[in-house]
Amino acid sequence: MMMRSHYCADLVGLPETSEVAIAGWVHRRRDLGGLIFLQIRDRSGIVQVTIEPDQGDVFEAADELRSEYVVLVKGNIRNRPENMVNQDMVTGAIEVVASSIECLNKSETPAILIDGHEDVAEETRLKYRYLDLRRPEMAKKFLFRTKLTSALRRYLDAEGFLDMETPILTKATPEGARDYLVPSRTHKGSFFALPQSPQLFKQLLMMSGFDRYYQVVRCFRDEDLRADRQPEFTQLDIETSFMDEEGIMGLMENMIRSVFKEMLDVELPNPFPRMPYSQAMEKYGSDKPDLRVDMPIHTVDDIMQSVDFKVFSGPANDTEGRVGVLNLKGGAEQVSRKKIDEYTKFVGVYGAKGLAFIKVNDRAAGIEGLQSPIVKFLTPDVAEQLLERVGAETGDILFFGSDNSRVVADALGALRLKLANDFELLSNQWKPLWVVDFPMFEEDDGQLQALHHPFTSPKELDPEALKANPTGTLSRAYDMVLNGCEVGGGSTRIHNTDLQQTIFEILGISETEAREKFGFLLDALKFGCPPHGGIAFGLDRLVMLMVGASSIRDVITFPKTTTAACPLTEAPAKVSDAQLSELGIELKKKSAE
Ligand code: AMO
Ligand code: AMP
Repeated sequence: MMMRSHYCADLVGLPETSEVAIAGWVHRRRDLGGLIFLQIRDRSGIVQVTIEPDQGDVFEAADELRSEYVVLVKGNIRNRPENMVNQDMVTGAIEVVASSIECLNKSETPAILIDGHEDVAEETRLKYRYLDLRRPEMAKKFLFRTKLTSALRRYLDAEGFLDMETPILTKATPEGARDYLVPSRTHKGSFFALPQSPQLFKQLLMMSGFDRYYQVVRCFRDEDLRADRQPEFTQLDIETSFMDEEGIMGLMENMIRSVFKEMLDVELPNPFPRMPYSQAMEKYGSDKPDLRVDMPIHTVDDIMQSVDFKVFSGPANDTEGRVGVLNLKGGAEQVSRKKIDEYTKFVGVYGAKGLAFIKVNDRAAGIEGLQSPIVKFLTPDVAEQLLERVGAETGDILFFGSDNSRVVADALGALRLKLANDFELLSNQWKPLWVVDFPMFEEDDGQLQALHHPFTSPKELDPEALKANPTGTLSRAYDMVLNGCEVGGGSTRIHNTDLQQTIFEILGISETEAREKFGFLLDALKFGCPPHGGIAFGLDRLVMLMVGASSIRDVITFPKTTTAACPLTEAPAKVSDAQLSELGIELKKKSAE
């Protein structure tokens, strides 16, 4: 039998005197002498229950209740008098006049106040996550998440995508992180790797002919954790055959547009703007530019080539170097000396050796109107060209980064976002875009790495041309970026054995190693592999953005801490010697022991 007749939030709109039964937790109890008010909470929200003094039994039962006791309340709906309406509550215009109260369970004083607004340490929140999740603002995020997942599934189902599962106990899939390994008992000394993504399996499903696949799937990556990274996270993983980048990007942005409309009543642009990777790096110093901030990095190399200031003229004349400028509009008065020192320290983290600045006190006065320790190095002509280039107006402050292009991009790219935060420039908008034309490879300590994964198709298909100029080759990859967050990434794949082998060769993966790691893929490519491609969305990130959370931990039921541990279960944990021996594993003794 169902104990409740309605969730709390669903009581709104019922006719007065309707008989209802609600089941939930005592959120708050107020005793006004003769009158008791209870706030009862369930996953939908909170409603007020009123117990009048003439209701003997009910009153006694209510008197016994404490915070977080579990109760079943029966009663009748009553509209609150006009002056008692609580505008802050969804159910603020009504109350339930109790006719019976049954205490279903008691509660000790909870470790986290559910009805408290004070900041509880995250470690404690995670240790008592089941209590943390009772908080209405948390419950709301998870109700949103389930609705969003359902909307995404409905879209893909309607488009003919098949929801298919792939193994979790598998072999390493290279996505750039460390693997989580699982020892095998039946093959001692051998290990499964948990998938960093279902990449290879979804490609195999295309080779099997399923044509359109999706999966809401857990992925595992042992990497440094941040606000938008967890060791296990959920992808909405998608693959299609016989469709090129245009087709896939079109379908995918349409999906995102449709769930934004359905869930948030937000109209995203159609089509999403696109930006080549090189432009994103140059103008925004990032491969995931936040276009809510209208503050590009200007390049002034040509202007600074002949100035009598080595810090600028050096990089300005060096092909690998760059002098970049940010113009913080109207910032001259607000940015104090102390702030400048703070920002100088901040860019130092990214390798910048300093942070020259110019305050534009009077634009009309040209060089005379500028205030800066470096103005003495500029001629009136250089100053004029500079001010013109960055669109300077009276009251602006300019920040300079002068170094190799990478440091300038990193330092000014990060400073741009910091300034946007500090000066509240993040307009209340949704700014999606596709970043395209990624390089196929990036160089790391002289070794080439795949910028996406090694199954991404290059634009150049001729093996010799590829080998001759790998770093100059672009890939057929695309990332979807939303408000400065990479929400998804994918590509057209290689569907030909020779090309796949060439890519492995360029990456320095020997034929033996390639066979050992990906032999099954190389084999499968030989038996009629269709042209195919796809994408994976970070579902946690998408939810985080859509509900306005500051970390994906807030939208994952039981997340890990930044050291990849779970305070609730205390995982990871030691295991017994018997278990280890069964797995054929012997632990190294710590030197201290
Ligand atoms: P990629 O590695 O870009 O691509 O991952 C796809 C999306 O997954 C999200 N994501 C994460 N979210 C939370 N925590 C993490 N540690 C984490 N790592 C990634 C991001 C990212 O855009 N197989 C390819 C996709 C493909 O080519 O189809 C892949 O996994 O939002
Ligand atoms: P200095 O000549 O070292 O006194 O520096 C003069 C100004 O240039 C100071 O404001 C420094 O912060 C700034 N500066 C020094 N090196 C750099 C650099 N690589 N990029 C940008 N500004 C710099």
